Amino acid sequence: MAWQIQCTASSPPASPPPFTPKCLPPRSLFFTLSATSSSRFCPPHMPSLRSVTCSLSAVESPTSTAGLDDSKTPLLEVKGLTAVIAETKQEILKGVNLVVHQGEIHAIMGKNGSGKSTFSKVLVGHPDYEVTGGSVVFKGENLLDMEPEERSLAGLFMSFQAPIEIPGVNNIDFLHMAYNARRKKLGEPELGPLEFYAYIYPKLDLVNMKTDFLNRNVNEGFSGGERKRNEILQLAVLGADLAILDEIDSGLDIDALRDVAKAVNGLLTPKNSVLMITHYRRLLEVIKPTCIHIMEDGRIIKTGDSSLAKVLEEKGYTSISAE
Ligand SMILES: Nc1ncnc2c1ncn2[C@@H]1O[C@H](COP(=O)(O)OP(=O)(O)OP(=O)(O)O)[C@@H](O)[C@H]1O
Ligand SMILES: [Mg+2]
Repeated sequence: MAWQIQCTASSPPASPPPFTPKCLPPRSLFFTLSATSSSRFCPPHMPSLRSVTCSLSAVESPTSTAGLDDSKTPLLEVKGLTAVIAETKQEILKGVNLVVHQGEIHAIMGKNGSGKSTFSKVLVGHPDYEVTGGSVVFKGENLLDMEPEERSLAGLFMSFQAPIEIPGVNNIDFLHMAYNARRKKLGEPELGPLEFYAYIYPKLDLVNMKTDFLNRNVNEGFSGGERKRNEILQLAVLGADLAILDEIDSGLDIDALRDVAKAVNGLLTPKNSVLMITHYRRLLEVIKPTCIHIMEDGRIIKTGDSSLAKVLEEKGYTSISAE
């Protein structure tokens, strides 16, 4: 049976619960753990490595796979993905097609309620949703056959749109446990507290975070921006072949946006990829996307280069609506 780091969204218990991996009950929130090794943390690579492979103008892609460059290795291939809310069976994803190759940065934009977060949560295996059709291949394996924990061990990381608090769980303990759980799964020796501190300490600089945040409970009392920085710290610690960042820019002031974007750029290598959901062009100016996809009513209705964000900003979604 798969285990997860369970993070309930309820109020803090009278005494902190023991923080141990648990089976994932329905409707619980969870963090995924990535399976990448620390060797994947490379210095910032040159932007030129992430060559723009989108066609120069926006292309409509309501039915075609939004794949971009067949000469590169596909990391994620999503075909005709449909999904419903588990409880009500309401269909939210109505045939998503998307291909992300190694080293690419993809942005998904779209109106509120168009299905962006649902898509990302379905990818990590969130129990609120049931996949009803289509396929998802990640690194050549059927992602939909994997438990959420296996997906994370395979190199998928997700930063949630609204990161939750974990009352009673110290941030560094959380990261230490998550990191060691992954090392254990990979058959690598676990790091002791001091070794882990030495590992994590330089990563604080990356997100411009003070050491005090390590000793506070996960996200408890953190401002919106601090939570987002903490998400990127998790990504820096755990690593990812594909990092899904759901509105990592929301609630960030200008300096925080720059720090977070710089940190994400610093984690990119020619082999790993980012799928970021955003409403704002300002993020796309600092984390330059290979492609931008527009989601509408549970489908990707258009794919293009960064000029698509400019069109959106100037003319709004009606200018590119499917209808
Ligand atoms: N667990 C759920 N229970 C009920 N409705 C849900 C659930 N998950 C998603 N939905 C509904 O599905 C639709 C898509 O939601 P989703 O969060 O994916 O949108 P989004 O594109 O991320 O929007 P936003 O830009 O506002 O974050 C919305 O109408 C939402 O209310
Ligand atoms: Mg959302």
